[in-house]
Amino acid sequence: MYPSALSRGSRFPPSIWLPSAQCLPVSEFSAMGKPKVKPATSLIGPLHNFTGEEVATLRSHLLAWYDANHRVLPWRTIAATEPNPHRRAYAVWISEIMLQQTQVSTVVSYFEKWMSRWPTVEDLAQATLEEVNQAWSGLGYYSRVRRLHEGAVKVVEKLKGKFPSDRDGLVEELPGVGQYSGSAIASIALGQAVGVVDGNVNRVLARVRGIGMDISAPTTVAHMWALADEIVDAERPGDFNQAMMELGATVCTPKAPKCSSCPLRSLCVAQQRSGCVQQRSSIKNHFQQHKESAEEETSTIPDIECVAGCDFCLQKEDWDESLGVQNYPVKGRKTKQREETTAVVILECEDGRMLLVQRPKGGLLASLWEFPHIALTEESEEHWEKTVGGQVTELFGVLESDAASRTFIADVTHIFSHIRQTYRVYKIRVASERGVCWPERYQGGQWMTREQFLSSATSTAMKKVLKAVEAQEGKSKDKKSKKSSADQPSKKQKTISQFFSTVAKK
Ligand code: ADE
Repeated sequence: MYPSALSRGSRFPPSIWLPSAQCLPVSEFSAMGKPKVKPATSLIGPLHNFTGEEVATLRSHLLAWYDANHRVLPWRTIAATEPNPHRRAYAVWISEIMLQQTQVSTVVSYFEKWMSRWPTVEDLAQATLEEVNQAWSGLGYYSRVRRLHEGAVKVVEKLKGKFPSDRDGLVEELPGVGQYSGSAIASIALGQAVGVVDGNVNRVLARVRGIGMDISAPTTVAHMWALADEIVDAERPGDFNQAMMELGATVCTPKAPKCSSCPLRSLCVAQQRSGCVQQRSSIKNHFQQHKESAEEETSTIPDIECVAGCDFCLQKEDWDESLGVQNYPVKGRKTKQREETTAVVILECEDGRMLLVQRPKGGLLASLWEFPHIALTEESEEHWEKTVGGQVTELFGVLESDAASRTFIADVTHIFSHIRQTYRVYKIRVASERGVCWPERYQGGQWMTREQFLSSATSTAMKKVLKAVEAQEGKSKDKKSKKSSADQPSKKQKTISQFFSTVAKK
């Protein structure tokens, strides 16, 4: 039997039973936030914590790696050089909200454009929702930009242009700012020594500490936050947190991690357990020390339960040798995405402009411009055809004769966070825009050129739809031009109507 963790001397901190004082309140917006409800009690053995010595090693190795390898990013430059803390907080807030669900490489140009257009929170507060939606176009998850705008107005009007000075204040005052963003802004912009946990940090910590409990379980979430708060470097919290995220994004990646260049290798349980030949000595070291302190002798790599009953150890039967360090983190079953099919109709008038309608002010993709949508409720082609033919007349006032001449373009799929959306894309050329209307639930409608559409506040999904139309029409155009005489001079495409005018109707 294992002796109690407390009796094992000072090499390992005692096992931790959660819930403990570490369980703090959490914002409902933060996916990685600390759980609101007390997690079920779990035994967390010493392997899954750091000793004081390990924390010191981790900080020095990680920061040295970051100093030598970090990417120069515009928000980092502002955080490092801007003397005004409120301006720093504004810039880091914008960058952190943009970085949620979007890659750094995509965010850089959005951030730069945004900051040159609205360099201060006062400038942003004066912008219209339409303008900020437009600047956000392509980043997705549009509720984020609405909350940014709402937050800017609040900071200016309620807080007199001053950002709260710590994590709790940021979470409390700024809409859309949960534990993750609050911690990132507080540490990067304001120098508060609080840790951050996002997907990258979760992966790094799960591997380094061999955490084999479902990464989204409330106990695991609470433990990750407790670890992050404990290991953060008090002198350089912003750099430390960004280094953890950067390590997860560039070295400790979900697939093909680059363990040989990882600065945390000597501390990494996953690496030690993964059993590469050159790692065997260190794995033995790590587990041997533990086992020795537990007065257990073993000649093989243990099947790891760091203390009897530890809930965080990955059990032998759950370990897949072929995955190595990628056994961590352990992901529970994902919630199934809802599947939805909707018809999208490109109504094109004589001069090539297309009808766009503006979505309602609230809900998914609020206020964005989209091609007319028609709900499809049954899974059959016959139903789809009948519904589109009928509804385009009933809801959008399209003449029956025009509706009958519709062309099916393609199915376009787009994944929203919880919906797998299929758009069945049709195109109808209407003889006249007169008589065409839209249902009341839309805020309005406009006939737009291709260029107007592309520069309006619209979603990535709708841009995909137009791309599909253009690809399809390009194909028809190619076919047609191959058939036509070879000496026909090629004309530069100018308008969408010229572009579409070559399409053969079905
Ligand atoms: N992801 C989220 N925040 C980040 C940051 N500040 N730097 C790099 N990647 C990030």
